[in-house]
Amino acid sequence: MIINNLKLEGKSSKDIANLIYEELKNIDTTKNDVLITIPEMYQEVSNYLDKYDFEGFVKTSTLEDEDNNDISIDIVEKENFVVAIDGPSASGKSTVAKEISKILGINYLDTGAMYRAFTYYLLKENISLTEEEIKKVIGNINIDFEKDSVILNGEDISKEIRGDEVTKNVSRVSAVPIVREVLVDLQRNISKGKSIVLDGRDIGTVVFPDAKYKFFITATAEERAMRRYKDEKSSLDKSYEEILEDLKARDIIDSNRKISPLKQAEDAHFIDSTEMTLKEVVEKIINIIRGIDV
Ligand code: DC
Repeated sequence: MIINNLKLEGKSSKDIANLIYEELKNIDTTKNDVLITIPEMYQEVSNYLDKYDFEGFVKTSTLEDEDNNDISIDIVEKENFVVAIDGPSASGKSTVAKEISKILGINYLDTGAMYRAFTYYLLKENISLTEEEIKKVIGNINIDFEKDSVILNGEDISKEIRGDEVTKNVSRVSAVPIVREVLVDLQRNISKGKSIVLDGRDIGTVVFPDAKYKFFITATAEERAMRRYKDEKSSLDKSYEEILEDLKARDIIDSNRKISPLKQAEDAHFIDSTEMTLKEVVEKIINIIRGIDV
C-alpha cells in the first residue's frame, strides 16, 4: 500500500503519523507483520509513530531515496518466530522476556518455572532426587500455564515454586538428563505454531538452536544478588551475603552440568545489564528485533 506523496504535501508530521495510524487500524497485526518505509524527509513521522501503541509487530524504516517521497506500508503474513533469552539466575531475563512478549504481542514461556514446578512436585512427594527415582514419577506430572499462573496437576503453585526449598534444589533437579529431555520436549510442543519468547539457560543453544532472535543477558553476581535482595527483602529472611552465596552456587551448577549447561550461543546478542535498567535492556532488544540497531 502506498500513501502517495501528493496526499502528504503540506501536512505536519503528526498529521502524517495519524494518516498512517488510520491505515494500520484496518490491518490485523496479529496475523500480519507490517513494514512502514518512510522517506528521509518525513523522518520525524517515525517519532510520532513510536508513540502509538500498536499491537503486533510493526517495523519502521527510513528510506534514503531522493526520487521517492511516498510512504509505503507493506503487509506480510506473519511468520512465527522464536525469541530466545538465556542468562544466569536473577539477570532480570524473566522480567525482560515478559515485557518483550507484551510489546510484540506474542506468547511467553518461563522455562525456569517448569524446572521449579517439577522440583516442587518431587519435594512435596518426598521423592529422592536421583535419576532412578525421578524416572518412576516423571509421567505423573502435568504442567500448564494460565495467564501468569503455573499449574501443576490442576493446582496453582505459582507462589510455592519461588520458595526457598525449591530454589535451593532446582539446579540439582534440572541437571538430571531425563528431566531435561521431558521438559525440553514440552517446551517445543507448547511453542509449536506460535511466535513466542522463551527465557531459560539453554533456549538458544539446545531448545531452539534456530531461533530467529537470541539474547544472552547477564550482570555481575554482586549486582544480581543486590537486585534479588531488593526484590525479596520483604518476603525472604535472608541477608545480601546469603543470597550472593546461593546465586554463586547455582551459577556453578547451572554452568558446569554435563548436559545443556548455561552457555551463550555463538550467534546470541550479548547484553551485560550490570549498568543498565531493565527498561534499557528491553529497549535494546526491541531495537535489535526491529532491525534498528543490529
Ligand atoms: O530462571 P530460574 O531461576 O527460574 O530457573 C530455575 C532453575 O532452572 C535454574 O537454576 C536452572 C534451571 N533451568 C534450566 O536448567 N534450564 C532452563 N531452560 C531454565 C531453567
